[in-house]
Amino acid sequence: MLQALHLHLEKEQRALLAHIEANLKSEVTLVQRVAEYIVSAGGKRLRPALVYLCVQLVEGQISAKEHEAAAVIELIHTATLLHDDVVDDSKLRRGRHTANAAFGNAASVLVGDFLYSRAFQMMNRLGHLRIFDLLANATNVIAQGEVQQLMNVGNIATTEADYQRVIEAKTATLFSAACEMAMVLQQQSDERCRAAYAFGHHLGVAFQIADDVLDLTGKAEEMGKNLGDDLAEGKLTLPMIYALQHATTAEQLILHQAVQQPEHSDMVKVLDIFKRTGSLEYALRQAQQANVQAKTCLRAFSPNAAHDLLMLLCDYAIARKS
Ligand code: IPE
Ligand code: IPE
Ligand code: MG
Ligand code: MG
Repeated sequence: MLQALHLHLEKEQRALLAHIEANLKSEVTLVQRVAEYIVSAGGKRLRPALVYLCVQLVEGQISAKEHEAAAVIELIHTATLLHDDVVDDSKLRRGRHTANAAFGNAASVLVGDFLYSRAFQMMNRLGHLRIFDLLANATNVIAQGEVQQLMNVGNIATTEADYQRVIEAKTATLFSAACEMAMVLQQQSDERCRAAYAFGHHLGVAFQIADDVLDLTGKAEEMGKNLGDDLAEGKLTLPMIYALQHATTAEQLILHQAVQQPEHSDMVKVLDIFKRTGSLEYALRQAQQANVQAKTCLRAFSPNAAHDLLMLLCDYAIARKS
C-alpha cells in the first residue's frame, strides 16, 4: 500500500522534502543536526499524503501553498515525535536511535520547540487565517492529549472513554487537520470540510488503536521502534483496559502490578492474559469500526484515483506492520 501511495505521490513527496529541508536551516549547528537526523530517517509521511490526496479528491491543483501546508503538518508531527520519545523514554524511531538516545533529552525537547515554532512561522507566511487557526488548535489539543495520557499512566481506573479521548487528541487531531486543511485550501463547502475532517478523525483513531496493538504484537525491525514501550511505561492502551475489565481476580493482580509497577511486571504473563481475554482482537475490532466510519465519510466525495487510495489507506491503517 505504502508503495502504491508513494508511487502516486512521488513528485509531491519530493517537493515536500525540499520544502521541509529548506525550513530546517539554522545557524545553531545542533538544531540543524537533530532536525535533519529525524527528518532524514524518513517516516511514512502519511499526514502530508493526506493533504495531497484530499486536494486531489476534489480535483484540486497541488501548488506551492499545498506543499507548504503539507510541510507544516509534517514538521508539527515531527516535533510531537521528538517530545513523545523523551516522555516515553523510547530508544528507537524510524529504524534509528531516537533523537533523545542519540543527542539527549534536552536537545530533543529544544529542537522539538524549534520545529513547532518554525511550523508556526511557515503558517504565518501562508497567510491563511483559517488554516492558522486550525493548526494552532490542533497543536494545542495534541499537547493536551499527551498531558492527559501522562495523567492516566499507572491509573487502573482508566476507562475506554478516557483512552478514546486521549487518542482523539494526540493522534486523530493531526489526521483530521491535514484533511480539513486541504478542503480549506481548495475553498470547498463547509459540508465537504466537515466530511474530510471526520474522515481524518476516524482514520487517526483506527491508526492509533492499531499502533497500540502493534506495540504488543509487531516486529521492531518492521516498525522501526522498540516494542513494549507502552507496557514498560505503565501506559494504559485499549488491550490493557479491556483485559482489566475481563480478567479473573488472580489475573487482575498481575495486570495491576504491570500498570502500577511496570519495572517489576512479567510481560509474558501479561500477554497471556491479553490472549485469554481476547483483548487484542477486541482492540482490532474497535480499529475496524473506526475504519468503516472513515470509509463512510468518503461517500461525500466522487470516486477518482485519490478516492481509491484513501480507501486503501483506511485498510492499511489497521492491517499495517510498520
Ligand atoms: C507515529 O506516527 C505516532 C503515532 C501516531 C502512532 P507514524 O507511524 O505516522 O510515524 P512516522 O512519521 O511514519 O515515523
Ligand atoms: C503517539 O503516541 C504520539 C503522538 C501522536 C504525539 P505513541 O507514544 O503511541 O507513539 P509511538 O508509539 O511512540 O510512535
Ligand atoms: Mg511514544
Ligand atoms: Mg505507541
